[in-house]
Amino acid sequence: MKRIFIIIILLLTLVATIIWFNLPKITPYYVQLTKPRIGLNLDIQPQAQKEAHFVGSSKCVKCHEEQHTQWKNSMHSKMIQDIRKTPNSVVADFSKLPKNADFTLAQVVYTVGSKFKQRYMIPANINGKEDFRLGNYQWNVQTKKWQNFKPYTYWYHDAYPHDNKQFPTSNTCDGCHFTGFMATGKRVEPAISCEACHGPASNHIKNPKSKIFKASLSDPIRTNEVCFQCHMRNRDKRMETEYKKAKDLWMDAKDYPAGYVPGKPLISYKLPAPFALGAETKEFWANGAAKKNRTQGNEYIHDRMYQHGITCINCHNPHKLSNTVEKPEGNDACMKCHSLGSIIGPHQDTLEQHTHHKADSKGSLCIECHMPKTAKHTGKSPLTVRSHLFSFTYPAQTKAYGMPPETNACYACHKDKTLDTLQENLKSWGRLEWEKLELPQTSFK
Ligand code: HEC
Ligand code: HEC
Ligand code: HEC
Ligand code: HEC
Ligand code: HEC
Ligand code: HEC
Ligand code: HEC
Ligand code: HEC
Repeated sequence: MKRIFIIIILLLTLVATIIWFNLPKITPYYVQLTKPRIGLNLDIQPQAQKEAHFVGSSKCVKCHEEQHTQWKNSMHSKMIQDIRKTPNSVVADFSKLPKNADFTLAQVVYTVGSKFKQRYMIPANINGKEDFRLGNYQWNVQTKKWQNFKPYTYWYHDAYPHDNKQFPTSNTCDGCHFTGFMATGKRVEPAISCEACHGPASNHIKNPKSKIFKASLSDPIRTNEVCFQCHMRNRDKRMETEYKKAKDLWMDAKDYPAGYVPGKPLISYKLPAPFALGAETKEFWANGAAKKNRTQGNEYIHDRMYQHGITCINCHNPHKLSNTVEKPEGNDACMKCHSLGSIIGPHQDTLEQHTHHKADSKGSLCIECHMPKTAKHTGKSPLTVRSHLFSFTYPAQTKAYGMPPETNACYACHKDKTLDTLQENLKSWGRLEWEKLELPQTSFK
C-alpha cells in the first residue's frame, strides 16, 4: 500500500516536471497580461505623495544603493551635465566650432546629450525671465561634425521667433531633461533621476512606510505612462481645445506634458503627435514607423505586444536601461518570452524555419527583422534609430507606403536586390499570409 502510494507520488512529480518544462516561456507573465485595465483616467498617485515635494537622488542612496548605482551608470543620469562640475562631459571638438557660432564654450552651462548628438545650454533672459537658450551649432557624435541647429523649425515654428537667442529651453526641452521641471517648473535636478519616474519623495525619505509611486503596481498600459511622458512625440495639450494653432501659443507652446506627476493620468496632460495610417508626416512614415528619435511610445502603442500587456520595462530594466544598441542581449531579449513553436510564436519549430537564414547568421537576429532602423537623430545623421513597431514590415508594404527602401529590414542587408525580389524571396519561403496580400494603396496623400 505504502509502496504504491510512493510510486504514485513519484509519477505525479515526473508528470508535473515534464509539464513545467514544456509550458510556453510566456507563462510567468500570465498575471501581468491578464491584469484588469483600470482605465486611462484614474489618478493612481499614492495619497501620501500628494503634498510631497522633490528632494533629489542624493537622498535615496543610503537606503537604495543598488538602484542608485545602476541608475548612475545609465544614460538617464547623464542627459544634462553641468560643465563646471564635469568638464569631461563635453564630447565636441570646440577647436573646430564654425566662426559664425553664436556661443563659446565659456558661455555654456549645461551639455544636453552625449551619445548621438550634443547641444549646449546658455543662460539667457527671454521674455523677461531667467531662462536658457541653445547654441546655433550642435555636435553630431555619429558623424563627428558640427552642424547647424535651429530648434524653432519644429511643429511650434509659428510660436517662437526664428532666432536661437529668443528661443527658451524652459517650454520646449527642460520638462523632459531636468527632474522636477515637468511637474513644478523648477529645475530640481539636472537629468532624469529617481523622482522623474517615482514622483516627489519628501514624505517617503522621512518615513519609508509613506507610499511612493511604482509604475509596475498598476496595469500594463498605465505602467508604460512613466516612460511615455518623455519617450513620445507631442503637441501642446491646449491645442486639443482652447488653441487650435501653434501661433495662438506665442512664446508659450510646450513640447512636454507640463504638470504631469507619475501616477496622474498622463492622458490629461499629453496630446501625442498626430498620425493616421497611410499618411506620412514629418515625424512618421506612412506605416507608423518613426522618422525621428524619441518616438518609441508613438510607435509602440500601435503594436500588438503593447495591446496585449507587454511593457517597456519587460525589455528595459528602468534603472540599468539595458538592451540598447550599445549592449545587445541578442535573441535572449526576445526569447525570454517567445519560444519556437509556442502559442505566441514564432510558429515554426526551428529558428532556421522561421528566419530562412542560418542560425548563426546576422539574418537570424530577431531585432534585425522586427526592429529595423527607420529613423535618424538629425537630418544629417545615419539611419540608426530602431523602430518599436515590432510587427514585420514586408518589402511590398515598404514600397506601397512610399518609404525609402533602406528602412526595410530585408533591403537593409541586401542592397543588391530590389524590394520586389525580396518580396518574391519571402513568397518562395511561404511566408506571405493571406491578409498580407492585400497591400495598402499607393494613392495615399
Ligand atoms: C530611510 C530609508 C529610505 C530612503 C532615504 C528612501 N527609501 Fe525608498 N524605500 C525604503 C523602504 C524601507 C522601502 C520598502 C517599503 C515597503 O515595502 O513598504 C522603500 C520602498 C521604495 C520604493 C518601492 C515602493 C513600492 O511600492 O514597492 C520606491 C520606488 C522607493 N522606495 C523609492 C525611493 C526614492 C526615489 C528615494 C529617494 C528620493 C527613496 N526611496 C528613499 C526606504 C527608503
Ligand atoms: C526611468 C524611470 C525610473 C528611474 C529614473 C528610477 N526608477 Fe526606480 N523603478 C522604476 C520602475 C518602472 C520600477 C518598477 C520595476 C519593476 O517592478 O520591475 C522601479 C522600481 C524601484 C524600486 C522598487 C524595487 C522593487 O524591487 O520593487 C526602488 C526601491 C526604486 N525603483 C528606487 C529608485 C531610485 C532610488 C532611483 C534613483 C537612483 C530610481 N528608482 C530611478 C522606474 C525608475
Ligand atoms: C523625464 C524623461 C524621461 C523618462 C521619464 C524616461 N526617459 Fe528614457 N531617456 C530620456 C532621455 C532624455 C534619454 C537620453 C539620455 C542620454 O542620451 O543621455 C533617455 C534614454 C533612454 C534609453 C537609452 C539608453 C542608452 O543607453 O542609450 C532607454 C533604453 C530608455 N531611456 C528607456 C526608458 C524607459 C524604459 C523609461 C520608463 C521606465 C524611460 N526611459 C523614462 C528621458 C526619459
Ligand atoms: C517630450 C520629451 C522631450 C522633449 C520636449 C525634448 N526631448 Fe530631447 N530627448 C528626449 C528623449 C526621451 C530622448 C532619448 C530617446 C531618443 O532619442 O530616442 C531625447 C534625446 C535627446 C538628445 C540626444 C541625446 C544623446 O545622448 O545623444 C538631445 C541632444 C536632445 N534630446 C535635445 C533636446 C533639445 C535641445 C530639446 C528642446 C529643443 C529636446 N531635446 C526636447 C525627450 C525629450
Ligand atoms: C519587446 C522588447 C522591447 C520593448 C517592449 C521596448 N523596447 Fe526599447 N528597445 C528594445 C531593444 C531590443 C532595443 C535595442 C536594440 C539594439 O540593441 O540595437 C531597444 C532600444 C531602445 C532605445 C534606444 C534607442 C537608441 O537608439 O539607442 C530606447 C530609448 C528605447 N528602446 C525605449 C523604449 C521605450 C520607452 C519603450 C516603451 C514605449 C520600449 N523601449 C519598449 C526592445 C524593446
Ligand atoms: C529574416 C527575418 C526574420 C527574423 C530574423 C525573425 N523574424 Fe519573426 N517574422 C518574420 C516574418 C516575415 C514574419 C511573418 C510576419 C507576418 O505574418 O506578418 C515573422 C513573424 C513573427 C512573429 C509572429 C508570429 C508568427 O510566427 O508569425 C513572431 C512572434 C516573431 N516573428 C518573433 C521572432 C523572434 C522572437 C525572432 C528571433 C528569434 C524572429 N522573429 C526573427 C521574419 C523574421
Ligand atoms: C515579456 C514578454 C515578451 C518579450 C520580452 C517579447 N515579446 Fe513579443 N510578444 C509577447 C506577447 C505576449 C505577444 C502577443 C502575442 C499575441 O497576442 O498575438 C508578442 C507578440 C509578438 C509579435 C507578433 C505581434 C506583433 O506585435 O506584431 C512579434 C513580431 C514579437 N512579439 C516580436 C518580439 C521581439 C522581436 C522581441 C524582442 C525584441 C519580443 N517580441 C520580446 C511577449 C514578449
Ligand atoms: C541582418 C542582415 C540580414 C537581414 C535583415 C536579412 N538578411 Fe538575408 N541574408 C543575410 C546574410 C548574411 C545571408 C548569407 C547567408 C546566411 O547567413 O544565411 C543572407 C542570405 C539570404 C538569402 C540567400 C542568399 C541570397 O542572397 O539569395 C536570401 C534569399 C535572403 N537572405 C533574403 C532575405 C529576406 C527576404 C530578408 C527579409 C525577410 C532578409 N534576407 C533579411 C543577411 C540578412
